[in-house]
Amino acid sequence: MTTSQTQMKQAAARHALALVDDGMVIGLGTGSTTAFFVQYLGEALQQGRLRDIRGVPTSERTARQAQALGIPLVSLDDVSAIDLAIDGADEVDPQLNLIKGLGKALLREKLVEIHARAFWVIVDESKLVERLGEHVPLPVEIAPFGARATVRWLNSLPGVRAEHWLREDGQPWITDNGHYLALCWFDDGIPNPRALARTLSAWPGVMEHGLFIDMATGAIVATPEGVKTMVKNPRGVAG
Ligand code: A5P
Repeated sequence: MTTSQTQMKQAAARHALALVDDGMVIGLGTGSTTAFFVQYLGEALQQGRLRDIRGVPTSERTARQAQALGIPLVSLDDVSAIDLAIDGADEVDPQLNLIKGLGKALLREKLVEIHARAFWVIVDESKLVERLGEHVPLPVEIAPFGARATVRWLNSLPGVRAEHWLREDGQPWITDNGHYLALCWFDDGIPNPRALARTLSAWPGVMEHGLFIDMATGAIVATPEGVKTMVKNPRGVAG
């Protein structure tokens, strides 16, 4: 990561902190950009600039960071609502649909963020794409049982090249939920993310996938010229 990219992630995270009010329950995402947000949130609590915040972490990694900073944590089951979720993304398209999960936390991220009243994405401008799947593969969380069969099925989908996502030692990555992961590659991006999301969600071996369709309230995008926000207008197009 270059220094300027780090600075952009920090700028987006700092901007997101302004959305936090005393007493909120905050969904805490996972990844390097969100880690800055969690850090700033912890500092604001320690310095008394924010009070009565509770966090719902989307991964064991984020939970450890938040605990170390003294952010009180609660589980999704223990809250009636999440006021605000903040998380990074791997790609953001003009409709504010997302690819997420290259930090391997997509299932808990999606579960926490679907329950949030507002879900703001924090990214640097390198994450903006015209078409999802242009630059990065789509992560899919799969059941260990029949995992090879599930990857074969993923490969049978039109335009998809799928593989097990393995660690450097050749062993499968295991998610916080005890599942495996697959990566799906697309030569020209994903022509219809909504249709693909439906197809993936309907398949039994797929535990969750990294397409976040119609979930984001807005995106805070850091650029070298400053921070801009993208929100959905009534026709569903970000502007
Ligand atoms: C975690 O599983 C992902 O969804 C992350 O939100 C995503 O990978 C973005 O991470 P960075 O902020 O590190 O780019």
